[in-house]
Amino acid sequence: MPKKDYITTQDFTKEEIMDIVNLSLLIKANIKAGYPLNVLYHKTLGMIFEQSSTRTRVSFETAMTQLGGHAQYLAPGQIQLGKHESMKDTSIVLSRLVDVLMARVQQHKTVEELAQYATVPVINGMSDYNHPTQEMGDIITMFEHLPEGKKIEDCKVVFVGDATQVCASLSMIVTKLGGHFVHYGPKGFQLTDRPQYDGIAEENCRVSGGTYLVTDDPEVALKDADFIYTDVWYGLYEAELSEEERMKIFYPKYQVSMDMIKKCAPNVKFMHCLPASRGEEVTDEVMDNPKVSICFDEAENRLTAMRGLLVYFMGKMDETVAICKNNLGRK
Ligand code: CP
Repeated sequence: MPKKDYITTQDFTKEEIMDIVNLSLLIKANIKAGYPLNVLYHKTLGMIFEQSSTRTRVSFETAMTQLGGHAQYLAPGQIQLGKHESMKDTSIVLSRLVDVLMARVQQHKTVEELAQYATVPVINGMSDYNHPTQEMGDIITMFEHLPEGKKIEDCKVVFVGDATQVCASLSMIVTKLGGHFVHYGPKGFQLTDRPQYDGIAEENCRVSGGTYLVTDDPEVALKDADFIYTDVWYGLYEAELSEEERMKIFYPKYQVSMDMIKKCAPNVKFMHCLPASRGEEVTDEVMDNPKVSICFDEAENRLTAMRGLLVYFMGKMDETVAICKNNLGRK
């Protein structure tokens, strides 16, 4: 039975995630080859944002346009949600006005409630708990940059720094697909310090054969790493750190520098969800290094992922695969 919503990748099997990855890559190839794809003709996406966004907003809107549909930006403070109307009523009303919804929310329970009452698909555009559309773009990027001769199940993926929702999301998708995930961060800011993630990656590994490790030991963390990933050091939403505090906690040990990169596998790739605070969690030398950094490919793949997710959750996968394969002359 296909799932209605995309709230967390934990609701999906490895096979279902791979369906979305392969669909996304096929649509990307089709669009790069110049073939139009109007499978979401006249469909409308409602985009609720409780916070600012560049990549998520623009990639969703571009994806809808490229697929023949339209997106409406429902900006913070510009709809009735919260002050004048409940989430339940907003969900019911928007379900009658648009064909699919996405929401970037402060609190995870908000997007869960939206999905509970909406009769159209709901996609989580980031909450304080996770960032599943980022996860999908990230895993697509890793598939495009796999080390020669390796499968995702052979890769060591190291997240450096604070246990953000992006760190948690990455741990979920890498272990779900059978990869080897390490969180390298200081005590007090590790995934194991956040009870909401207890047992998730471990259970994924039990099913997939992947591994999961949390450590503050650089030798253990960095040795043979195929992908090094980081995010900003701002701390949790409810307890944002000052610049002085974050430098004291994370700098210089957890800054991704060329010295750190040299301790990893020879062809390690650097990833970042962006936006980055250059000079804090990553140096310019790493971020702008074309041999190492794939963070801008990763940003582009937010669009790759959004197209795949929209087609999948709008029930258009089979039709889209057939059109793209026909266009590209693939069996
Ligand atoms: N990575 C990410 O979600 O970027 P935005 O906040 O710009 O959407």
